Amino acid sequence: MTNGMKDAAGFPALMVDMEKLRRNLETVTRTVRDAGCSVMIVTKSFCADSRITRMLLSDPMVDYLADSRIQNIKTYSGMGKETVLLRLPQPCEIKDVIRYAGISFNSEAGTVELLNAEASRQKKIHKIVLMIDLGDLREGLYYTEDKKIFSTVETILVLKNLQFYGIACNLTCYGAVIPKRDNLSVLSGWAERIREKFDTGPLLVSGGNSSSYYLAEKNELPAGINNLRLGEAFILGNETAYGSRIKNTFGDAVTLEAQIIEIQTKPSVPEGEIGVDAFGETPVFRDRGSIERALLALGRQDIDPGGLFPCDAGINVLGASSDHLILDISGADRPYRVGDSVRFTLSYGAALRAFTGAYVSRVFC
Ligand SMILES: Cc1ncc(COP(=O)(O)O)c(C=O)c1O
Repeated sequence: MTNGMKDAAGFPALMVDMEKLRRNLETVTRTVRDAGCSVMIVTKSFCADSRITRMLLSDPMVDYLADSRIQNIKTYSGMGKETVLLRLPQPCEIKDVIRYAGISFNSEAGTVELLNAEASRQKKIHKIVLMIDLGDLREGLYYTEDKKIFSTVETILVLKNLQFYGIACNLTCYGAVIPKRDNLSVLSGWAERIREKFDTGPLLVSGGNSSSYYLAEKNELPAGINNLRLGEAFILGNETAYGSRIKNTFGDAVTLEAQIIEIQTKPSVPEGEIGVDAFGETPVFRDRGSIERALLALGRQDIDPGGLFPCDAGINVLGASSDHLILDISGADRPYRVGDSVRFTLSYGAALRAFTGAYVSRVFC
C-alpha cells in the first residue's frame, strides 16, 4: 500500500491538491482580469465539490460561479457570489432556476416567459444572458438572424421580473470552432447594436470558455468582450483552443489513483475467435509477445479510459471494461505488487466522469 490516508479513503480515489488548484486559480484569474474581463468559474467538472467551491467563494478575483446543472448551483447559492446557470433552462426546472440562480443563459422566448412568471411568483428579478451562436452550432440564436435577436431582446426587456443582463457565445464545444478576433468581434458588435437600439446601458459580453483563454493571454480579445467562463483552464490548467498547458498552472492538481488487483504475465493477443467487447466494439491487438499485465479496480463506469495518462511513463493503458482497467506494466519505472496503487493525470472528460462517479472517493490535501 502506498499511503495510509489514501487507503482509508478507499480506491479508486481522486486526489485533489488544493495548493495547486489555488495556484491555477491565481494564474487564470490574473490573466483574465488583466485582459479587462470579469471571471466566471465553472464548477461542473468537479460536481461543485464544496471543498473547491469554498475556495472559489472566498476569492475576490472570482466574480461568478457557474454550472450547467441547477443541482450543483443549489449547493452554493446565496453564499456571496452571483450564480449562473450555463445550460439553457429546462421548462421542468424553472422553479429551481429562479430559486438558486441569479442569472441564466437563454435563447428561447418561451422559456424566458416561464422564467418571468416564476420570478414574479417568487418576487425576484432574474437576470437573462442571451446566447448568440457564432457558428459552433450548439445553443444560441444564429448571429445572422437580426430580426429574431432584436425581437428576443425586446421580449426580455418588457418582462417585468427579468433584467436583460448581457449576451454570450460558446465555442469549441460542438463544432470545435476556435475563437478568433473575427468571430468574437461579431459578439461584441451585437452588444453594441443592442445597447444602441434599446439604450440598455452596460452589458455582460461573455466571450466564451477556456478556448478563448489564449486570446486573453495575448491581450487579443476584441474590445467589448468583458467576461470569460473558465472550467478546464482552472481545474487542469489547459487552454482548449489548441490544447496547450497554461504557463504557471498544474495539470496534476487533480489526479486519480486506483488499486492493482491482479498482476499476471500473459500474451498480448487474445486467443480464440474475436467478436465484440463488452461495449460492442471490435478490439484491435498488436502482438508483442508476453507482457506483464496489471488489472486495476477501475472501469468505464468510473472513468473514460482514453483520458487516463499514467504518471509512471513506462506504463501503457491497454483497455478497459466496465469494472476493470488493464495496463501493460512490462516497462514500468518501478516494480508493482497487488495492492499498490497506480496514479494517473486526467483529461477533462475523464475528470468529469470520475467526479460524477458514485464509486470514486475524493482525497483532499
Ligand atoms: C456554456 C458553457 N460555458 C463555459 C463552459 C466551460 O468550458 P471550459 O471547461 O472549456 O472552460 C461550459 C462547459 O463546461 C459551457 O457549457
